[in-house]
Amino acid sequence: MRKPFVAGNWKMNKTVDQATLLVADMLPGLEAVKTVDRVVCPPATSLMVISGMLAGTEVGLGAQNLHWEESGAFTGELSPAMVKEFCQYVIIGHSERRAYFGDTDETVNKKTKAAFAIGLTPIVCVGETLAEYEAGKTGAVVERQVKEGLKDIDPKTAEKLIVAYEPIWAIGTGKAAGPEEANDVIGNVVRKNLAGMFGNDVAQMIRILYGGSVKSENAGEFFHQSDIDGGLVGGASLKAGDFVKIVEAAA
Ligand code: PGA
Repeated sequence: MRKPFVAGNWKMNKTVDQATLLVADMLPGLEAVKTVDRVVCPPATSLMVISGMLAGTEVGLGAQNLHWEESGAFTGELSPAMVKEFCQYVIIGHSERRAYFGDTDETVNKKTKAAFAIGLTPIVCVGETLAEYEAGKTGAVVERQVKEGLKDIDPKTAEKLIVAYEPIWAIGTGKAAGPEEANDVIGNVVRKNLAGMFGNDVAQMIRILYGGSVKSENAGEFFHQSDIDGGLVGGASLKAGDFVKIVEAAA
């Protein structure tokens, strides 16, 4: 009953020219898969041009970050309204933002509320480090990120939320988590906590993605799991054929 959802996180890759070529390459394939919500998240410099290319299609556009304030002295940041000019989605609290740019559960919460307030759908990322994983702390870490990052959000609003569980040790490493293992965290930690916060009906509506070394070869194994509703794809979203295949696997 939850519509599958696949987003491509391009990270800091592709100039406007390169981004335009990549979207042109993947658009026919993406357009064909109507049963999946599919979204591309290029760097901010390409959002304007790509929003033009995607106009009139069912392919969504997302930014990789935003600031929670409406405007002001925040050099280098984008406000919710600036993102909303071009996008329907925004990635929030990606582990790279948490590791290198100071994102915390508290700022994730502010950004998530700001995104909802302006009518963007947030894709909120959670996930444990390798050290936390090896110490058996995955459940505790992910539970804290969910509870703190999503606190005080209205349940009616929360049903639109997208959550991405991305074990940090699986991101960009080629070492994906086991599909059953990922499903266990998504079902028994993420969805269970969402049910505690927003009620079971809402928790059953929220799409939860797996991310971390998703490829066309392994995507199907993840998407067959009961609690995994799609993927947040990094490296493989930079190749048109691979990304289309992953979206097809979600269908
Ligand atoms: P990856 O990245 O697919 O390259 O592992 C996933 C992500 O960071 O969202």
